[in-house]
Amino acid sequence: MANQESNNPEPWNNLEGKVVLVTGASSGLGREFCLNLAQAGCKIVVAARRTDQLKALCDEINHPAFSGSPSNPNTTVRAVAVELDVTADDPTIDASAQKAWNRFGRIDVLINNAGFRGTVKNSLELDEEEWGLCMKTNLNGTWLVSKHVCRRMRDGHQGGSIINISSVIGINRGQHVGDVGYAASKTGINAMTKLNNVALKMVPLQTFGSLDPAVTSLVRFLVHDSSQYITGNIFIVDAGSSLPGIPIFSSL
Ligand SMILES: NC(=O)c1ccc[n+]([C@@H]2O[C@H](COP(=O)([O-])OP(=O)(O)OC[C@H]3O[C@@H](n4cnc5c(N)ncnc54)[C@H](OP(=O)(O)O)[C@@H]3O)[C@@H](O)[C@H]2O)c1
Repeated sequence: MANQESNNPEPWNNLEGKVVLVTGASSGLGREFCLNLAQAGCKIVVAARRTDQLKALCDEINHPAFSGSPSNPNTTVRAVAVELDVTADDPTIDASAQKAWNRFGRIDVLINNAGFRGTVKNSLELDEEEWGLCMKTNLNGTWLVSKHVCRRMRDGHQGGSIINISSVIGINRGQHVGDVGYAASKTGINAMTKLNNVALKMVPLQTFGSLDPAVTSLVRFLVHDSSQYITGNIFIVDAGSSLPGIPIFSSL
């Protein structure tokens, strides 16, 4: 195994055997992560509220013509759907996590991707409902889904990884105005990722640049066992767009 891997500079392009649960899989980045990871050989549990979108995604991945399909199309279902509202209460998310776990009998990696941005408003105009939805979706949702998936990983004595999709808005880079609820929730996710003794990996994103391969290649690497010693990290994937734009020179 070690020799095979040393001959292959990018072993994370073959993720056969990994089972990945992706929240917010019905559209946007989550959908792209599912397609990309299925192409690399993962089995995917796709989760969100819009089950029609999830079904369409599963049909696409499970179609014999899909590029990640095994040579014998009758052998394996690659993607299955679980309805999941990350703003639900603790017992409801527990039950959804159990359903997700049962689909393939394990989960190796959870990607907490479901997110809500809200409208861009200064904090004086922001209403409590929108603030609350940001917190409940991004912060509570990430915590509760992680809690119930990680408990099963722990009890299964199998290990596992959590990848939280955050944002550069939650770290000390760039200038963002009018996103106070979103920024506070993403900052909370960053703190949770670093402090939580179970949740391990976080990928902040920016709107600039491409998803594939910029973010998908990093996610594949984090899913692969060769990244198992990488923990509690924040990876900035923004093509440098949040670096300070004006260089400061000192005459001292
Ligand atoms: N796009 C970017 O450039 C960018 C930049 C920085 C960070 N991010 C982060 O990346 C993640 C995905 O963003 P995106 O742009 O792909 O967003 P998007 O296209 O709006 O998709 C959001 C996804 O989250 C799901 N979702 C929302 N509320 C949910 C809930 N209560 N329960 C379960 N699922 C829920 C939606 O599914 P349903 O509606 O079907 O439930 C949808 O699949 C977010 O965490 C976002 O903060 C994105």
